[in-house]
Parts: sequence; C-alpha cells; structure tokens
Amino acid sequence: MGSKEVAVETVDLEKVYGIGTLEFLALRGLTMKVEKGELVSIVGPSGSGKSTLLNMIGMLDQPTAGKVFVDGYDISTLNQRQRADFRNRYIGFIFQSHNLIARTTTLKNVELPALVSGMPGDERAEKAIDLLKRVGLGDKINRKPTELSGGEQQRVATARALINNPAIVLGDEPTGNLDSKTGSEIVQLMRDLNEEMNITFILVTHNPEVANATRRIIHLRDGKIEQDELLP
Ligand SMILES: Nc1ncnc2c1ncn2[C@@H]1O[C@H](COP(=O)(O)OP(=O)(O)OP(=O)(O)O)[C@@H](O)[C@H]1O
Ligand SMILES: [Mg+2]
Repeated sequence: MGSKEVAVETVDLEKVYGIGTLEFLALRGLTMKVEKGELVSIVGPSGSGKSTLLNMIGMLDQPTAGKVFVDGYDISTLNQRQRADFRNRYIGFIFQSHNLIARTTTLKNVELPALVSGMPGDERAEKAIDLLKRVGLGDKINRKPTELSGGEQQRVATARALINNPAIVLGDEPTGNLDSKTGSEIVQLMRDLNEEMNITFILVTHNPEVANATRRIIHLRDGKIEQDELLP
C-alpha cells in the first residue's frame, strides 16, 4: 500500500458553517487518504458531514482549516481561475440530481466538460461516443435526457464525469433517485469502470447495498471518521 499513488488526501480538515453563536462544526479534523484506483464509499447519519467532505474534495467549497490534496496538488494554493480549471480537468462529479441539460442530446451532454477544457471537436465526439458505448448507451446518443429512463440518465452522467479522464470521480448519492435494481446496475457499472480503467471513485451513499459493493467504507459521525473498513 505504502508505495501507491495517492488520489486524495485530507489533513486535519475542518469546516465551520455560520458565524458567532450560530457556528456549526461540520468537519472536525478529518484526516484520510484514498489511493489511486480505490473504490470507496462514505456513509454515516444525516448531518454527519458526508456532503461537506465531498464538497471540500471537489473544490465546491473551501475548508475553514486543514488541507486537501488532489492528485498530489495542495488545492488551497490555487486561485479561483485555476480551481475551476483544475476541477474540470481532474474531478468528475455525479450527483443525485444529475444536472443534465434537457434541451440537448446525450452526446452533447457528455461532451460538455471536454468542450470547456478545450479538447478538439473530433477527439471529443469520439471519446464521448466511446464512453456512451461503455455505459451501454451506444444506440441512444442522439436522444434527449427527457427521452431516457432514470437509470439511463444516471449512466449519461457517469459517462460525462469520465470524459476528461479525471483523477477522481465523486458521487453524492449517485443512485439516490433510482429503484434498487437500477441502483445496483449503476454501482456494478462503476465497479467495472474502476477495475477496467483504474478510475478512483468516492461515493457518498445511504444505501448499504451500494456501500457493500465498494471495496472500502469510511463511516463518518459528527464530522469525524468513526470507522474505516476494508471489505474483503
Ligand atoms: N451551508 C450550510 N450552513 C450551515 N450549516 C450547514 C450548511 N451545510 C451543511 N450544514 C450543516 O453541516 C452538517 C453536515 O452537513 P452535510 O450536508 O455534510 O451532511 P450529510 O452527512 O451530507 O447529510 P445527509 O445524509 O443528510 O445528506 C449538518 O449538520 C448541516 O446542517
Ligand atoms: Mg449529504
């Protein structure tokens, strides 16, 4: 384990929301390391800090104290512009509400982060089509999200998260809107992508089936790690 490359590391991470008497300590000195190629879930009671942690790693919000390293970079040293570039380049996001653009096609939705990062058009389309085939939607590239099922939309969001070859993919309840069978299929897809493409996944979930399908479960409670469990 020791010589493996680290995808994400947090050191004494703290997050305080609010001010004065309304202060709330959502993360209380959280230290953890996720190596490249891991498939990790983060579980814990509502309010335990799961989304807060994911938002810090994904640079959607800044910690009050402590450090986050992504792919070896101390992300606190980046300015706003660099953060946006870094986020687009290194981090793929899959959220419960998958935020697909309804008016455009599956293909264009998947291409979007690559358009932002400046990937040439031909390469972009080719890559998007490859990924859509990979997630089993090769025959639906010209559909609009409204013409897809919930599970299919989530697969589009997964393909979109992968287009820029991110170092890590973050999911906040990526199966939350799905029935349990479709949810299981999405986790199986992530397991396959993790194994075949060595993509690092960090998934926040309330669903024990999803957590048990990952290889490591980090349990949070009151903004701290309560248990760090490696699955067989
Ligand atoms: N913007 C905010 N302002 C003030 N408090 C916040 C804010 N965002 C989150 N909190 C508080 O921080 C704590 C952690 O919130 P967080 O969203 O990380 O929990 P969570 O583990 O993701 O919960 P859930 O399972 O319900 O999604 C909660 O007590 C929440 O009320
Ligand atoms: Mg949450």
